[in-house]
Amino acid sequence: MNSVKSIVVLTGAGISAESGIKTFRADDGLWENHRVEDVATPEAFERDPWLVQKFYNERRRPLLCYQERESEVKYNPAHKALAKLEAQFDGDFLLITQNIDNLHEQGGSINIKHMHGEVLKMRCKSTNTVFDCFHDIEVADLCDCCGEPNNLRPHIVWFGEMPLYMDEIASAISSCDLFISIGTSGNVYPAAGFVQMANQAGARTLEINLEESLVASNFDQAIYGKAGEVLPAWVEEFLIGQRKK
Ligand code: APR
Repeated sequence: MNSVKSIVVLTGAGISAESGIKTFRADDGLWENHRVEDVATPEAFERDPWLVQKFYNERRRPLLCYQERESEVKYNPAHKALAKLEAQFDGDFLLITQNIDNLHEQGGSINIKHMHGEVLKMRCKSTNTVFDCFHDIEVADLCDCCGEPNNLRPHIVWFGEMPLYMDEIASAISSCDLFISIGTSGNVYPAAGFVQMANQAGARTLEINLEESLVASNFDQAIYGKAGEVLPAWVEEFLIGQRKK
C-alpha cells in the first residue's frame, strides 16, 4: 500500500460484540428482547417514554464505573488496536462509530464521531442542550437547563432521525486515502454508503467483519474474522509498513 496520509474508520456493533454487547441483527431479529420499533423511534418515545428510558438506562448501566468499581463492560483488543493506530499513525485520523457505547473512549481513541449518538449523554427536548449522563433517567426528572419534567431524552439517533456530524464525516471521507469499515452489516444508511463515498474519493477500502456485509462487493479488500483477533494484527502490520515508507 502506498504511503497513507489520511485514514477514516467506520465501526459498528460487531466491534463491541467481543466485549459482550449484543449486535442488532441477531437471528431472532430482536434487540435485547425488544422490537426496534418499540424502543428506537421517536414515535416509541412519544407513546411510552418510560419503556424507552428504561431500555437505555439498562444499556447505560454496564458502561458506568461506580467509585472504585470498574465498568461491567470493557473495551476489547479491537478498540485498543484502533487507539494505537490513531496514536502512532503519522497523518489525519477520524473514527466514525455507529455505536452508542463508550468502548472506543475506554480503549483510548480520541478523535471520534458518534454518528448515532451516545448512551452516556441525554438531551433537552426544548433546547437540544446535550448533557453527560452517568445515571438512570426517570421520565419525571427535571431537565438541568429548562427545569421542566418530562423533557429529557436519550441522546440517541433513532430510526427516522438524521445522523449527527454528517458534514464533518463527508468532508473527512472525501479527502481520505484509506477507509476501513469494521463490524457493521451494511444494513443502515447513510453509514452503509460511506464506502462508495470513499471509492469516489479514490481511497483504498478495507472491510473487517465476521462475514461479508451487504456492501462487501464495494471494498477493495476484506479480512473476515473476529475484530478482536484480526484487527490488532492488521494494525501492527500496517504501522510497520508505514514506518518503512
Ligand atoms: N468481529 C467483527 N464483526 C463482527 C463480530 C466480531 N466479533 N461479531 C459480529 N460481527 C459482525 C456481524 O457479522 C455483522 O455483520 O458485525 C455486524 C453487526 O451488524 P449489525 O448488528 O447490523 O450492527 P450495525 O451494522 O452496527 O448496525 C447499524 O443499525 O439498529 C441500527 O442504529 C443501530 O448503529 C446501529 C445500526
